[in-house]
Amino acid sequence: MVRMPTSNSAPAIRVAPKVARFSYAIRNIVSAAKAAEAQGTRVRYLNIGDPVAFGFKTPAHLIDATHKAMRDGYNGYMPSAGIVTAREAVAAEYGHRGMPVSPDRILITSGTSEGIDLALNALAGEGDEVLVPSPTYPLYTAVLASIGATPVYYRTDPHRGWLPDLDHLRSLVTARTRALVVIDPNNPTGAVYPEATRRGLLAIAESHGLTILADEVYGDLGFDGPVPLLGSLDPGAPIISFSSISKAYLAPGWRAGWMVVGATPRLDDVLTAVKKLADGRLCSPGPMQFAVTAALTGDRSHQEVFRQALAERTGIVARALSEVPGMECVAPRAAFYAMPRVTLPPGRTDEEFILELVRRTGILCVHGSGFGMPPEEGFFRIVCLASPQELSAICAEIGAFAGEYLASA
Ligand SMILES: Cc1ncc(COP(=O)(O)O)c(C=O)c1O
Repeated sequence: MVRMPTSNSAPAIRVAPKVARFSYAIRNIVSAAKAAEAQGTRVRYLNIGDPVAFGFKTPAHLIDATHKAMRDGYNGYMPSAGIVTAREAVAAEYGHRGMPVSPDRILITSGTSEGIDLALNALAGEGDEVLVPSPTYPLYTAVLASIGATPVYYRTDPHRGWLPDLDHLRSLVTARTRALVVIDPNNPTGAVYPEATRRGLLAIAESHGLTILADEVYGDLGFDGPVPLLGSLDPGAPIISFSSISKAYLAPGWRAGWMVVGATPRLDDVLTAVKKLADGRLCSPGPMQFAVTAALTGDRSHQEVFRQALAERTGIVARALSEVPGMECVAPRAAFYAMPRVTLPPGRTDEEFILELVRRTGILCVHGSGFGMPPEEGFFRIVCLASPQELSAICAEIGAFAGEYLASA
């Protein structure tokens, strides 16, 4: 047998050009933290919204359900759409919350993320447009880049509690617009939209025949209690809702979530398309699907404790950073992020500020432009899951750093 010699001097293997447009700043920024660590700096990772990493515990009955499923032999492939008990539990949950839907319109997915990927792939093709909020959770723009579709940003306004600017949104609709992404409660801003805003979003989608992609992964983490489903305002609207056990059930690593395709015949073809695409990825992780059933049918008392902890922590951060000269921060009303703004000197970007912050202090946040904000506006996102004491100390360090940074410019 003749062996071809391996050659390390041959040109590097070509990467598909679309990868250059695929960006997920929340994890991409970690290389800057690793560089700081290599210089001996202790890094505080406030870039990823993972409550487990900060000591919050996954409820025991979810762990038991997953463990039992494994011991009972549920280690093979599952149906593509997910196990029946989990889909029935999601259907019952949505029914209680005012958006009745049958289990055959529900898929159990590898987290909210896979639902987003399936829905965007079913709805948008190359050259199509999808309306996404600015700032946005960056998976939407990343998936659209890989499809070759265009994200079109609609403004949300920090001076109005980060609510969507409905006039701006309306002005952006074109013949190519395929869907409207609504993230409520919102990451990265922590906003919760009032009913009038939600009805305005529904009306715009209705008048232009757009599907709404309702990201409701923080729906149970409103500081005043669970936030109603968008679909409860109009159960016949073309809404695809996503959520998971990552955030409100403290199991992000299990990759277990669901997507609900609203009960309107207008979405029947989309449902068929989503199921066809889901067949290709076989199924989401099997034993963890049993945790979805356990989560939605079992005890939720951990959520009240979690909500209180989040309200306290985000409040500390928003207050402390608002008091820093040259900074402002809207108080979040849900979830575990805050989106402060620093008034940057002319010519500077949010990313430069964030990179200098991690180099000098070891505090890792994510620049606002990673969420689609203009880089010169100086927004950044901070994860508020550390203990209240740590967060107070971290905010004091950010304040001291910002003072020096702005003075030196
Ligand atoms: C708004 C939003 N959507 C989706 C996700 C992805 O969540 P999951 O772990 O359910 O895939 C996140 C995670 O941070 C998020 O903030």
